[in-house]
Amino acid sequence: MSQLINAQSTGIPLYVLTNDAYDAWLGKQRAATQTWLATTGYQGKGLATIPNESGSLAAAVMVVNDASEYFACGDLVNKLPAGQYLLETDEANNSAVAFGWCVGGYRFDRYLTNEKHAKTLPVLAVGKQVLVDEAIKLSEATALVRDLVNTPAADMMPQHLAQTCQALAEEFGASFSEVVGDELLTENYPTIHAVGRASCHAPRLLDLRWGNSDAPKVTLVGKGVCFDSGGLDVKPASGMRLMKKDMGGAAHVLGLARMIMAFGLNVQLRVMIPAVENAIAGNAFRPGDVITTRTGLNVEIDNTDAEGRLVLCDALADAADEKPELIIDFATLTGAMRVALGTELPGFFATKDETANGISQAGEGVQDPVWRMPLHQAYRDMLKSDIADMTNCANGPFGGAITAALYLQEFLPKETDWCHFDVMAYNVRALPGRPKGGEAFGIRAVFGYLQSRFS
Ligand code: BES
Ligand code: MN
Ligand code: ZN
Repeated sequence: MSQLINAQSTGIPLYVLTNDAYDAWLGKQRAATQTWLATTGYQGKGLATIPNESGSLAAAVMVVNDASEYFACGDLVNKLPAGQYLLETDEANNSAVAFGWCVGGYRFDRYLTNEKHAKTLPVLAVGKQVLVDEAIKLSEATALVRDLVNTPAADMMPQHLAQTCQALAEEFGASFSEVVGDELLTENYPTIHAVGRASCHAPRLLDLRWGNSDAPKVTLVGKGVCFDSGGLDVKPASGMRLMKKDMGGAAHVLGLARMIMAFGLNVQLRVMIPAVENAIAGNAFRPGDVITTRTGLNVEIDNTDAEGRLVLCDALADAADEKPELIIDFATLTGAMRVALGTELPGFFATKDETANGISQAGEGVQDPVWRMPLHQAYRDMLKSDIADMTNCANGPFGGAITAALYLQEFLPKETDWCHFDVMAYNVRALPGRPKGGEAFGIRAVFGYLQSRFS
């Protein structure tokens, strides 16, 4: 990111304008520029590059509907030729353009050996160091989420997530601890162990703590299923293909934690990640098994593919024991949420209207939309078991995202201020600033909300 943007005040001018400002701008340009834009048929929409007399690049102009839109300029970094550009726009839009530039310049090149074809990306000069710092902090969080999700499962197992946590802790002076393998049983995290025990990569509960112990405590919990085969209720090939992304919730909370720590928010942060592989082996947990969870509630396994809520329930119960001000979890929990809202709008559930509204509002301001879903208590019945306290999933085809959220809610005291995000963590199509592949959804919305609530 730091090679994509700097605080200098020199470069080829890049004018980012809204439709209504374009005509006035055009009127002020020299005759040759006006002729060039007319000759090349530029319609005052999107990007145009403008040459000087010798044929080199004199300026670039980008006309957008709304220059304060965070992704409006997400493609500029890929469309402009290499070189340094000086951002010329309304001051109010600086942050959005800088962010779009940086996230648009994201590449996942870890497995690309042939660097010959890699294009040198242009650089954006924004004149002010604070703008650079802000854009880098935000876009590095997004890049972290994308990298973690994009990395194939073979290279992103629980131990790799642990290394990531450890490195993040070292970078920001946080503390890190973990419970690994059979210790999960002695430390009373039976569901994390049950889901993860069939993998040759030991299951873990990762735990990062940062901040001032006098500040309000915020605990983030992320689903870290490093690969979801479905377990013995194995997924079909089509459903399994993208399941390296099933640690997307963990990636999201790490990205959000990175923002919180980089901006130095006044909170006492705890990040918990149950990290497992939902694998198949002779010791795998089975449909019909009953697991006694951390709180003592007995859960009958209806389907081993509803594993995310299992690993989360023990982590959430532990999180709640400390009575934090706010608990937020992120998880690639259900296909049903994708059916409800599509892949590009994350749904979330919340116990408190004030928190939910604050997050929704914050998301609108930074083009990180989120959509609240209902914790419709009447559907709790669908989790009834014949032989145990409850099952891990409803067996009908309807309301799956809601019943998954209701399952999680069982492990939290009633008064808990809790939000649960059910995210896709993946772009199935490319959009400006949003390449295909791993993606962060909702973390800037939540960060914006946390900034307003805790500072
Ligand atoms: N990781 C999946 C959910 C998922 C699938 C999220 C595709 C995003 C895209 C989760 O573990 C799962 O398999 N859920 C099942 C639940 C069912 C068995 C009740 C699902 O959604 O089909
Ligand atoms: Mn599953
Ligand atoms: Zn899963």
